[in-house]
Amino acid sequence: SGGFRIAPSILSADFARLGEEVENVIAAGADIVHFDVMDNHYVPNLTIGPLVCEAIRPRTRAPIDVHLMVRPVDALVPMFAKAGADIISFHPEASEHVDRTLALIRDHGCKAGLALNPATPLQHLDHVMGRLDLILVMSVNPGFGGQGFIPEALAKIAQVRRRIDCHAAESGRDIWLEVDGGIKAGNIRAVAEAGGDTFVAGSAIFGARGADGSYREILADLRN
Ligand code: DX5
Ligand code: ZN
Repeated sequence: SGGFRIAPSILSADFARLGEEVENVIAAGADIVHFDVMDNHYVPNLTIGPLVCEAIRPRTRAPIDVHLMVRPVDALVPMFAKAGADIISFHPEASEHVDRTLALIRDHGCKAGLALNPATPLQHLDHVMGRLDLILVMSVNPGFGGQGFIPEALAKIAQVRRRIDCHAAESGRDIWLEVDGGIKAGNIRAVAEAGGDTFVAGSAIFGARGADGSYREILADLRN
């Protein structure tokens, strides 16, 4: 409702039953599948790649939102586009040529996003707003699920919201403001009030499977 989107991070799903987990969480009312890619280089953890994206693609019609925490970035873009990604985001520090990487993502038919770590300044958004479909504000340092929400992120979300609204007024284009890390029922309202419209949640969702085996209750809680 109200243009809000919930994007479960499958990083906290049961990887032994990943297809079912994706189906269940979308059936329970989630909007987007958030797909965390870590390379043990840009971040100190190693997760999943295009093969897994390709494997879950037929399980849902929901958009797959690929969050690349990798360096270098560019070689993975065509691979994820081919594997069925709808959105591809990356961290500007991880790309030699941010504008080129954004163009590459769009040339492959995907929506493009920039991900900003807690200490990454908003200047990285300068000059590329016209190429962005999404801005991902990190409310934890990337690398692991289950970390605590960094409260300083709220002021940053509000700043990014102002930039997006200015851009929309000039161009008529909306850019999604996705927030990632430590979101749960107890803080999602504050994130929405600061200006977030797309909410990633991993441990809060996959750690809360109901007695009926579904994620309906936690999805309803987050949406409310
Ligand atoms: C962190 C990832 C997040 C994370 C979210 O590096 O980008 O998507 O898995 O998980 P929670 O909601 O548990 O913080
Ligand atoms: Zn993520």
